[in-house]
Amino acid sequence: MKRIEDLKVKEIRWLNDSSFVLELSGSAATKDIRSGNFAEIKVDNHPDVFLRRPFSYLDFDEDENMVSFFVKAIGKGTSKLGTLEKGDTLNIIHPLGNTFSIPENKKVLITGGGSGIAPFIMLGRELKAKGNKVVILTGGRTASDILFTEEFKAYGDVHCTTEDGSLGEKGLLTQHSIFKQSDLDFDLIYTCGPEGMMKAVAGIAKEHKIACEASLENLMACGFGACLCCIQETTEGNKCVCTEGPVFNINDLTW
Ligand SMILES: Cc1cc2nc3c(=O)[nH]c(=O)nc-3n(C[C@H](O)[C@H](O)[C@H](O)COP(=O)(O)OP(=O)(O)OC[C@H]3O[C@@H](n4cnc5c(N)ncnc54)[C@H](O)[C@@H]3O)c2cc1C
Ligand code: FES
Repeated sequence: MKRIEDLKVKEIRWLNDSSFVLELSGSAATKDIRSGNFAEIKVDNHPDVFLRRPFSYLDFDEDENMVSFFVKAIGKGTSKLGTLEKGDTLNIIHPLGNTFSIPENKKVLITGGGSGIAPFIMLGRELKAKGNKVVILTGGRTASDILFTEEFKAYGDVHCTTEDGSLGEKGLLTQHSIFKQSDLDFDLIYTCGPEGMMKAVAGIAKEHKIACEASLENLMACGFGACLCCIQETTEGNKCVCTEGPVFNINDLTW
């Protein structure tokens, strides 16, 4: 069930020069959290940041009442979050949105770029628990953008691409050799990241007639269907990404 909670900053752990993990403690809402869900975080004490900012869960710990988020500092709100200190309070509304589909005993491919990798640790765990064979492919500009490799290894085979070739295969995520197989034999592909990357992954999935789910990161304001700021055009008309997403079957999108 949706809650508004005041949580305490437990830790901020920087992973590279622009990304960090934000751990918050004191949550009573962790039981309901599934991969794909997100939270709306209120960024206090910044005159220009009025609206809450949406973030997928990176993970949660039911025993410790803890939720964590992966944050890429790209603007005022995300940068402000990176300046918080242990013990500071943050107000969050959560869990929001829908979830990824979790099949059983299938072969699945997870593709994530940029901050789009955030929901995939939980997704990998849920997929492995249902007997799926999981392959995880992440992409970035350079080696320091490739994160959570060890965590992903617990749930499947891990591959990566970097644009400068400093780690994994050189090139864009969609240029990885996985996609060069003529018989791409996945039952389901998941994608989250920059829209161009998700559209390219969706195109490959359609070409090979593979089911595909994309988690959209449209700009949001309210997070619960009131402001219509997150509208996405679909084959059935406009939908709110915050309430009817963020996860969409790509065949329902007008991409
Ligand atoms: C469902 C959902 C889940 C998300 N999960 C994560 C996550 O796990 N980790 C993470 O780091 N980010 C995530 N995001 C994106 C995150 O919400 C934005 O980066 C954040 O709101 C930017 O706030 P800001 O104040 O720093 O940027 P602003 O100062 O508001 O904007 C800086 C620049 O970024 C652009 N921008 C702002 N929001 C977005 C967006 N959503 N997509 C593309 N460009 C944007 C603005 O137009 C502007 O050009 C998610 C977004 C959604 C909708
Ligand atoms: S963010 Fe307000 S309707 Fe979706």
